[in-house]
Amino acid sequence: MMLEQLNDTYQRSLDQLQNARTSETLETWYRQTLGRKGDVTQLTRQVGYLGPEDRPAFGKRVNEVKKELEAAYQQQLVKVRTAELEAKMAADGLDVTLPGRRYSRGRLHPATQTLREIYRIWGDMGFQIYRSRDVETDEFNFELLNIPEHHPARDLWDTFHTTEPGIILRTHTSPGQIHAMREYCPEPIRVILPGMCYRYEQITARSEIQFNQVEGLAVGKSISMADLKGTLADFAKRMFGEERKIRFRASYFPFTEPSAEMDVECMLCNGDGCQVCQYTGWLEILGCGMVHPTVLRNGGYDPAVYSGFAFGLGPERIAMLKYGIEDIRLFWGNDLRFLEQF
Ligand code: DAH
Repeated sequence: MMLEQLNDTYQRSLDQLQNARTSETLETWYRQTLGRKGDVTQLTRQVGYLGPEDRPAFGKRVNEVKKELEAAYQQQLVKVRTAELEAKMAADGLDVTLPGRRYSRGRLHPATQTLREIYRIWGDMGFQIYRSRDVETDEFNFELLNIPEHHPARDLWDTFHTTEPGIILRTHTSPGQIHAMREYCPEPIRVILPGMCYRYEQITARSEIQFNQVEGLAVGKSISMADLKGTLADFAKRMFGEERKIRFRASYFPFTEPSAEMDVECMLCNGDGCQVCQYTGWLEILGCGMVHPTVLRNGGYDPAVYSGFAFGLGPERIAMLKYGIEDIRLFWGNDLRFLEQF
């Protein structure tokens, strides 16, 4: 009876084993057959219930069955593993003759590219780069630039304050003018002051809380409005092309007198009028003016002897106009899909 059951189990287990085609089914088979609670293991324990005359034959057969199933299992395991490996290699399509994957090359940020173009042009025109700090005092950012406390002009700059009273993030590169003047006085000056500026703005497609500016400053004897116009017109020609028209409009800045803004003919519609130039044909690209006497004095220069001109332009804005970029926030969003286009 018991022997018959053993042989049945043996046969059934062997059949199941031949049909096991994956590592998982093989594992399950092993657990259910030769494992601690497996069918064969459990039959082995039955030997105690047999009469002494049946025990030797049963014991012998059980050991044979165990050995044979173990061997069959090992054989099947090798077969299944080989098949699985072959299937995986076919699926992965491993082709050692294919060329390797290319590393993608980095590039300069579009703002950096525009900045470098601007540096090159001003460099050619004899202007040095003067680096000034990002963290400023209220005094340099406003007071010394002729913007007293409580003056309504302060509303033009929504300022980031630090926890330290009077210490702020510069809202424009103009405070660098004072640093440069105090360092060079009484020598003549021709510098550009590039760098990051910060404003606490409501973020829209047209504003960012950080952006670059390039400030310019020329101080010397008998510098006139004609020098300002001629120099900025020359810059515009070098930056936007010989044929591109420019115009100056009167404006207001506390640190210049008189003040102006310079427009260039829209480079997207060539002056015909389009959405980008709001159908005016012109794009505003910088603020400028003759350095205010108070600012010259704060820099150490006697305004009766010295004069100068200054300007401030936004390189991201220029890049936006040049490439037709609609949202300034793309510059600092770190999205490779945007950055890779430049
Ligand atoms: N600082 C001004 C701003 O951020 C830009 C500017 C205008 C700078 C006129 C100048 C200037 O030097 O002369 O809005």
